[in-house]
Amino acid sequence: MPFVKLNNISKTYKMGDVSIHALKNVNMEIESGSFVSIVGPSGSGKSTVLNLIGCLDQPTSGSIQIENQEVQDLNKKKRADFRGQNLGFVFQNFNLIPVLSVYENVEYPLLMIKNEDSNNNRERILSLLDAVGVLEQKDKRPNQISGGQMQRVAVARALVTQPKIVIADEPTANLDHDTAFKIINLMKRMKDQEQTTFVFSTHDPKIIGEAEIIYTLEDGNLINREDRREYV
Ligand SMILES: Nc1ncnc2c1ncn2[C@@H]1O[C@H](COP(=O)(O)OP(=O)(O)OP(=O)(O)O)[C@@H](O)[C@H]1O
Ligand SMILES: [Mg+2]
Repeated sequence: MPFVKLNNISKTYKMGDVSIHALKNVNMEIESGSFVSIVGPSGSGKSTVLNLIGCLDQPTSGSIQIENQEVQDLNKKKRADFRGQNLGFVFQNFNLIPVLSVYENVEYPLLMIKNEDSNNNRERILSLLDAVGVLEQKDKRPNQISGGQMQRVAVARALVTQPKIVIADEPTANLDHDTAFKIINLMKRMKDQEQTTFVFSTHDPKIIGEAEIIYTLEDGNLINREDRREYV
């Protein structure tokens, strides 16, 4: 039983009289604990897929199962709860809160959810900051650290609530190649450490090779699925 299953998903955006078919009958199966990349040219539907798996948007038709729950028809409030409990996000432009310290940025999602184990929050935040390599920066503000460090903080923030899936839409687009490579490998290491499923999109052919499973979109169609675990 796959962990995430997209069944015949279509997404059509209506702009006045014009319909844009962003996804056309897409099927995907993502196993728990896998490291998955969504690739394809600009406009092919990568962000649309990620927003659907991330329960940020709803499909026009088709169904989405995440851990046996059908999520496509959940209302806004239920989707928000589901996101808080099950999903973490890493964004292209990091989206850290500028007035909060590195530590407080990672703490923030924990304050937003019902959190039974709050006694251990501090320990978890510090150990994540250490794991992603920014413990020494914990009292700095985002504008006092580098882009690569900001994205490390964003990875820690995405993982702090122990989500089952982390969604990352072009997490390395604003980073130089070496830093991008390091961030992808950091995500991979954190996936193993935290047993989280990672789904990220990228344009960068050099980092695509780091993914275990590669889904290729073209013009809203899923045109290929490559399982690279066969080669290792
Ligand atoms: N909110 C929206 N309203 C109307 N059209 C949209 C909307 N979001 C996306 N689209 C259109 O849907 C198609 C797929 O867009 P999407 O953002 O998923 O592509 P992408 O693969 O993420 O592209 P990029 O690499 O540029 O980020 C494009 O034609 C885009 O213009
Ligand atoms: Mg996009």
